[in-house]
Amino acid sequence: MSILVTGGAGFIGANLVTRWLRSHSETIVNLDKLTYAGNLASLVEVAGDPNHKFVHGDICDANLLGDLLRSHRIRAVVHLAAESHVDRSIHGPENFIRTNVTGTFRLLEAARGYWETLAGRDREEFRFINVSTDEVFGSLDADDPPFTERSLYQPNSPYSASKAAADHLARSYFHTYGVPIITTHCSNNYGPRQFPEKLIPVLLLNGMRGESLPVYGDGGNIRDWLYVDDHCDALRRILEDGVPGETYNIGGNCEMANIDLVRSVCELLDEVRANSASVPHVDLVEFVSDRPGHDRRYAIDASKIREHLDWQPHENFESGLRKTVNWYLENDEWLAQVTSGEYRNWMETNYGLRAKTS
Ligand code: NAD
Ligand code: TYD
Repeated sequence: MSILVTGGAGFIGANLVTRWLRSHSETIVNLDKLTYAGNLASLVEVAGDPNHKFVHGDICDANLLGDLLRSHRIRAVVHLAAESHVDRSIHGPENFIRTNVTGTFRLLEAARGYWETLAGRDREEFRFINVSTDEVFGSLDADDPPFTERSLYQPNSPYSASKAAADHLARSYFHTYGVPIITTHCSNNYGPRQFPEKLIPVLLLNGMRGESLPVYGDGGNIRDWLYVDDHCDALRRILEDGVPGETYNIGGNCEMANIDLVRSVCELLDEVRANSASVPHVDLVEFVSDRPGHDRRYAIDASKIREHLDWQPHENFESGLRKTVNWYLENDEWLAQVTSGEYRNWMETNYGLRAKTS
């Protein structure tokens, strides 16, 4: 039997697949559409691994999903495929509805049809992990307690609204049909192989090129940061011992205001690129006009997964950031590859019209 990972050529997926294949002998079927965010270069380490079956395809393709589930006798689905960037969802929400809502629906339908044909232990042990985000809970004020699994859904961006819709469908497939689904809500991930449209890789790439470091609004927005390997380990624990129908929050216990994070990245770049003409990198910081509807604060209470599944993050922000920076410095070919083509258009769309405010 095998595991189906969707979106396994994206940031979290590529880290998960690579990490999984290093320590397990089970086959991973990796279904990815290879959008701008998916990149086979992120999977070079597992390219020749016979346990890695890459399938170039779309989660909206119901026939393909049915074939893959049956022919590989899938025992678990880890559903990561998504349109994942808030700023892109503001500029063009349609793809988010297609992939995150319709795509998740097709995958749930295919999983239901397949699961209903299983019997005995295969049916009992089948799992569908719906990887969602803390952003479905909306925005916290400074003194609000962190999100728990019982927090209200209050999504504020087309991205988080599309993920919330997917979560509701997933919940309904458990309650109505009994499909053993578990939903996770993770905070902001960072680490190797993240496409340079999200904050940390934008800072690293621009910093390395001596270009400006754009900070939205006043830089006071707060996120909780988790090193990607810790997220992957949490998903593995949930796959092993998570309870169907439950949801689990996953977080790094690492709340930071964006501007503080930017300063930490700059200090680390000063240290590891001490001879660069851009030292001190903090001089590259530029405040720019804010993201519309910008959520002020996310924070995660991860006590449930800690207590029930004995999971907690291993990396702290300093160690995780150091690993991340080293990876980007050592992988300039990967960076050159992912930032060719469509990338320039995106930089122009997102940053070209943003007014400088400092
Ligand atoms: P990503 O954008 O880096 O990767 C998404 C992957 O999905 C890409 O490889 C892309 O090609 C693929 N994809 C997109 N549409 C597809 C389709 N229709 N069919 C098949 N494949 C398709 O995203 P990521 O950061 O790796 O996030 C993975 C998942 O984790 C997403 O569901 C996201 O909502 C969730 N999540 C991410 C974070 C984070 O900080 N990155 C935090 C919490 C939750
Ligand atoms: P991002 O990495 O896009 O993740 P998310 O919006 O899902 O939290 O952004 C993280 C934070 O950084 C968010 O508050 C927006 C901010 N940000 C900037 O200030 N500048 C940037 O260039 C980007 C991409 C994000």
